[in-house]
Amino acid sequence: MDITIRPAAATDVEGILTIVNGYAEEDLMLPRTAAQIQRVLVRFLVAESAGRVVGCGSLVELTPRLVELRSLAVAPELRGSGLGRRLVEALVVLAREAGFEQLCALTLNEGFFNRLGFPTVDRWDISPKLWHECIYCPKFDACDEIPVLMNLVEPQEEQAPRWQMAIGLPLRRRLKVAH
Ligand SMILES: CC(C)(COP(=O)(O)OP(=O)(O)OC[C@H]1O[C@@H](n2cnc3c(N)ncnc32)[C@H](O)[C@@H]1OP(=O)(O)O)[C@@H](O)C(=O)NCCC(=O)NCCS
Repeated sequence: MDITIRPAAATDVEGILTIVNGYAEEDLMLPRTAAQIQRVLVRFLVAESAGRVVGCGSLVELTPRLVELRSLAVAPELRGSGLGRRLVEALVVLAREAGFEQLCALTLNEGFFNRLGFPTVDRWDISPKLWHECIYCPKFDACDEIPVLMNLVEPQEEQAPRWQMAIGLPLRRRLKVAH
C-alpha cells in the first residue's frame, strides 16, 4: 500500500477526527473536537493512502524549547505496520527543524514510545504547561497518562563556573527538567 506522510490541510480534519475519536471511544486516546484540531493544524501531519487519512500526529508548542507530540494515531487496519514509527520520525524531524530541544508526550502506550527513544519521565519533571489543558480533560481527577520525553539536542557537557572550581566546590548539576 502506497502511503504518503504530508502536512495536514483543513480538508483532513474530518479524517483525523474519525481516527482519533474512534480510539477515544475505546478509551485509548483523548477525544478531540474539530476546533481543537484546526487550532494546531499548522504542525499537523497526516498519512494518506488512496485519498484517505490513515494516520496522523501533531506538534503543539508548550514553551520555546519544549514541544508536545499529540494526537498520534494510525487507522486500526494499519496498526503494527510501522506507520506509527514513520509518523513519529517525521514529527521528530519537524520538531528539530523548528528549533525545539525536547519533545514530550502523554500516552497510554508507553511501550511504543520507549521503543522509539522516548524514555518515561517523572510527570513533575515536565513543564507545568503540559498540564494546562488537563482541566478540560474527562480524566482530570483520574489521569492514567504516562509522560515520555525525547531530547532533540545533545546535552551540553556541564562545567562548574570558574569561581566554583577555584575554591574547589563540586559541580552542582542543574535539574534535568523539560521546560
Ligand atoms: C500507537 C500507534 C500510533 C503505534 O503505531 P503502529 O503503526 O501500530 O506502530 P509501529 O508498527 O510503527 O511500531 C513501531 C515499533 O514500536 C513497537 N511497539 C508498538 N507498540 C508497542 C508496545 N505497546 N510496546 C512495545 N513496543 C511496541 C513495534 O514492535 C515496533 O518496533 P520495531 O519498529 O522495532 O519493529 C498505533 O498503534 C495506534 O494508533 N494506537 C491507537 C491509538 C494510540 O494509542 N495512540 C497513541 C496515543 S499517544
